Amino acid sequence: MATLDQIDKTRLPKHIAIIMDGNGRWAKQRGLERSAGHREGLEALRRIMRAIQEVGVKYVTVYSFSTENWNRPKEEVDALMNLIAWGLKSEEQNMIEMGARLEFIGDISRMPEEALRVTNEVIASTSQGQNYTMIVAFNYGSRDEITRSVRAIAEKVAKGEMKPEDITEEDISRNLDTRNYPDPDLLIRTGGEERISNYLLWQMAYAEMYFTPIFWPDFTKADIYDAIVEFQNRERRFGKTSAQIQEEEKEKLL
Ligand code: IPE
Ligand code: IPE
Ligand code: MG
Repeated sequence: MATLDQIDKTRLPKHIAIIMDGNGRWAKQRGLERSAGHREGLEALRRIMRAIQEVGVKYVTVYSFSTENWNRPKEEVDALMNLIAWGLKSEEQNMIEMGARLEFIGDISRMPEEALRVTNEVIASTSQGQNYTMIVAFNYGSRDEITRSVRAIAEKVAKGEMKPEDITEEDISRNLDTRNYPDPDLLIRTGGEERISNYLLWQMAYAEMYFTPIFWPDFTKADIYDAIVEFQNRERRFGKTSAQIQEEEKEKLL
């Protein structure tokens, strides 16, 4: 189990993306309703937000509801919507004190009206936060997001504002919901599944993947420290050789 002082503050991930998975199985193991797992998952999120602030990571994106999660039973969908909105509302004061700014990616317009209203309140009241940005992916699907980006570019081409041959990778990135954030460099998925589930596909081209069997409601500060320490022990080569990377590291120290 890692501790805070094992983390090298000079080599932090800029942006951690989290797939908070395993709430349902956590509840089932205890003979509880799935919704009890989601409630406990909210407690885990509270802990992790504090850990992020203590460590000093600037961006964290959490997957709260995917475009595919609409296929779950209606009671579960409704319970999740309300839990997300009211959970954030209950954290509003803490977020303001921590200097956390809340933002969303995905299409939040499908949230029930009242939940959307409180969500927008928290977005507005935390908008001055300077310490870190917490991005909630809600009704989010990466393919949907990329499709919307491509559509926006195609409209510019159709109007003659842009030529197809001038389209760059940056144009695609600039039209994604994540346009204002650096790409995640670390992905953490709890709950034991080792898949991406339509999350930040474009943005995670070079993210380090960290999978843990721990169910999200059981995920602690020490567990996120472990993930960051492991991230810091990996050699990120971006297509180069290990020798090249080591040479670059040496030069940086000179
Ligand atoms: C993740 O936990 C939370 C959401 C998808 C909202 P799950 O609800 O997927 O939990 P499992 O995977 O069934 O255990
Ligand atoms: C991914 O978890 C979405 C969220 C955590 C919100 P799922 O539990 O929906 O993913 P799959 O269906 O197992 O891939
Ligand atoms: Mg799941």
